[in-house]
Amino acid sequence: MRLPASLAALLFASSSALSADLGPVEPLQVNEDLAALGKRLFYDSRLSGDTNLSCSSCHQPEKAFTDGEPLSTAYSGSEGFRNTPTLANVGHRVNWMHDGRLGTNLNDVSREMITEDYIMNMDMRMMQERLKQDPIYIKMFAAAGKGEPSNGGARSALQEFLKSITSAGADFDAGNMSAAAKRGYELFTGKAGCSTCHSGNRFTDDKRHNTGVPDNPAIWADPLRHQTYVAYAKFMGVENYMNVREDLGAYIQDHTPAAKRSFVTPSLRELTYTAPYMHNGMIATLEDVIEFYNQGGGKDTLKDKALKPLNLSNREKADLLAFLQALSGESFNQPYYVWEEDDYEYHVVSDWNNAKN
Ligand code: HEC
Ligand code: HEC
Repeated sequence: MRLPASLAALLFASSSALSADLGPVEPLQVNEDLAALGKRLFYDSRLSGDTNLSCSSCHQPEKAFTDGEPLSTAYSGSEGFRNTPTLANVGHRVNWMHDGRLGTNLNDVSREMITEDYIMNMDMRMMQERLKQDPIYIKMFAAAGKGEPSNGGARSALQEFLKSITSAGADFDAGNMSAAAKRGYELFTGKAGCSTCHSGNRFTDDKRHNTGVPDNPAIWADPLRHQTYVAYAKFMGVENYMNVREDLGAYIQDHTPAAKRSFVTPSLRELTYTAPYMHNGMIATLEDVIEFYNQGGGKDTLKDKALKPLNLSNREKADLLAFLQALSGESFNQPYYVWEEDDYEYHVVSDWNNAKN
């Protein structure tokens, strides 16, 4: 259950010393008709060129909108080179993608997802024509005040649906953490130094850091993944892109050498649903993540100075784990997010879909 911010603040004030910016993540205001249209688009595989992938193929609600794979799948003929990030509270971010390369708004992120050849490889003009052939879309665009089905309307509807994805119901927010989780919180903000980067109520500073996560060898061993990475690096203007054998991370934003292999701090909300972890899925469990930090992170000449070996006892590791687990709720396995087959009579209208069922 979600508590009003004021009530949560009272609970925290009386039960522990959590700071004021650590309440539940506030839901963003959304236009419901537009978000409902966005939801239908999110689950519609007609948004990909060959109709094989919808947004939900990779962003699955029961996994807090991730896919459980170390590296994501991709459009036919490609393979992904990044771990699919959660969409929990994605409307609160100030930049998007593991390398933070998109810093404008969610409308642009949707455009990238739809048109990028290794993601959905869809021509926007074709998408518009497909949407116009579906009477349910015609009704829903009109009801949302967007006139006829259009690219711009579709992207603003997707953005509205994305903005509705807010985490809720975590023990942390309800102020009823176990004693172990409370001790874990003290470590998190104290001796273990996690909150240096994982700050605020989404537990991210939205900045890039190098933590020394090892490269995922599958990107360089699998020709399809390698080729997909090369295409991305070339497009991002990386010199000598044919010879790169590491994920350059946020370096591609501004080509600052010191930013090599740095990635934007991820949120720590809903972690129990989003394994495996890190930009490339190289760490399988939360226990392993804690061990990674206990050793002071990975090996990298550019590693953030904040990371040092922690010498945590077994009990301290268990306490940190209990705290991380207290940041997950049961937010997304509910009707609004899960696709029901008869939602908006999808199956009766769509020939594409009938053909597949
Ligand atoms: C083939 C798998 C796949 C599909 C299909 C897909 N995504 Fe993604 N999505 C990803 C991956 C992987 C990333 C991270 C990419 C990176 O860091 O380079 C991502 C990133 C995002 C982000 C940024 C999240 C963040 O916190 O930075 C948003 C928002 C998003 N996707 C929404 C969508 C929407 C909307 C659609 C459908 C129009 C969609 N995605 C389709 C795999 C996919
Ligand atoms: C110097 C900044 C910094 C500090 C300090 C830090 N982190 Fe992180 N954390 C990051 C970054 C950056 C990533 C993403 C790295 C990547 O994807 O390669 C990350 C990733 C994670 C992840 C994986 C999340 C996911 O969805 O994949 C977890 C869990 C995590 N950190 C927990 C912690 C804990 C617990 C501590 C304290 C022991 C801690 N972090 C300290 C910056 C930091």
